[in-house]
Amino acid sequence: MIEELSSLFWWLGLIVFLYLSANFLRILLIYHILPTKLSTYGKSWALVTGATYGIGKAYAVSLAAKGFNLYLIARTESLLIDLSKELSSKYQIQVLYMKCDFSGLQTSESLQQKFIDLFQSYDFSILINNVSSLSRIHFSDMKLNEINYMHSLNTYPLLFLSKVFLDNSSHRKGKRGIITLSSASTVLTMPMISLYSGTKCFGDRFMLALYNETDADILCVRPLAVSSNMTENYKPNLVLDDPKDLVEPSLKCLGRIDICYGSWKHIFYYFLLYGLPSWLTKAIFYFFIYESVHRKIFPRSKM
Ligand SMILES: NC(=O)c1ccc[n+]([C@@H]2O[C@H](COP(=O)([O-])OP(=O)(O)OC[C@H]3O[C@@H](n4cnc5c(N)ncnc54)[C@H](OP(=O)(O)O)[C@@H]3O)[C@@H](O)[C@H]2O)c1
Repeated sequence: MIEELSSLFWWLGLIVFLYLSANFLRILLIYHILPTKLSTYGKSWALVTGATYGIGKAYAVSLAAKGFNLYLIARTESLLIDLSKELSSKYQIQVLYMKCDFSGLQTSESLQQKFIDLFQSYDFSILINNVSSLSRIHFSDMKLNEINYMHSLNTYPLLFLSKVFLDNSSHRKGKRGIITLSSASTVLTMPMISLYSGTKCFGDRFMLALYNETDADILCVRPLAVSSNMTENYKPNLVLDDPKDLVEPSLKCLGRIDICYGSWKHIFYYFLLYGLPSWLTKAIFYFFIYESVHRKIFPRSKM
């Protein structure tokens, strides 16, 4: 009996080892050996939401460098103008922008029509669903208007834009793809950002299901922690990645797999955190998020 059990464990261990090794090799191939599939998208347009800071800006810069024309969206017009000028002159591409508050998209038919007209007017091959907001606060302390704002900003725009993008790009000869910014909070439970993680789960699950419904390339990107406004612009460090450390590998994943966890460093952290019991990961995240709000241990060294 003991011999049979130990041989069963041996085989189970071997299967787990082979499974992990295959995944490791797959990521190694995608990140370092295979070329991106972006050349199969043809000379076309990419739309980036929340394009003026952090991760959205890094996507805009990277796609501009790869020759895509850009349509940028955010609320701060001065930043949109500056970024458009910088990218169009540096990379000899066309860059247009729209100043818009996405939290009102669900209730504004005129704004929705603007986007429908936009997608009908240009050959968009890439949509980056990036915009979201986050509050580090107990749900019980949130005001109703904050709840409505976060819910409408983090969920509806990605649904609406994905629908209009897919409808209008179905005739394209080249490929097309959607990248949606998900979050580590969709797989690791994080207290103090409960509403945020709930809204991110919605987008994550929606996109992963869509992956099997459409011929478009669909990618969910699940950053752990990236230096940006959302993380109060702390310098990249042992935990925080620079936005481009997330964006470059994710563009390599598009068209090859459906989930990207970012840099090798973050893949390693995911691997460690997955292995811990959930009460411990919850306690770790509660500690870090609480401390990042109340500043008991973290120095205020900003970028
Ligand atoms: N940073 C992280 O550690 C991290 C971790 C996990 C997931 N993510 C996800 O990654 C994505 C990007 O995060 P980030 O850290 O780069 O964010 P960020 O630095 O806060 O940038 C947000 C962008 O969205 C725009 N924006 C904000 N509210 C808007 C609104 N109501 N309407 C239109 N545009 C709006 C901002 O510009 P304006 O203010 O000018 O509008 C800015 O360009 C998000 O989906 C986030 O959930 C980030």
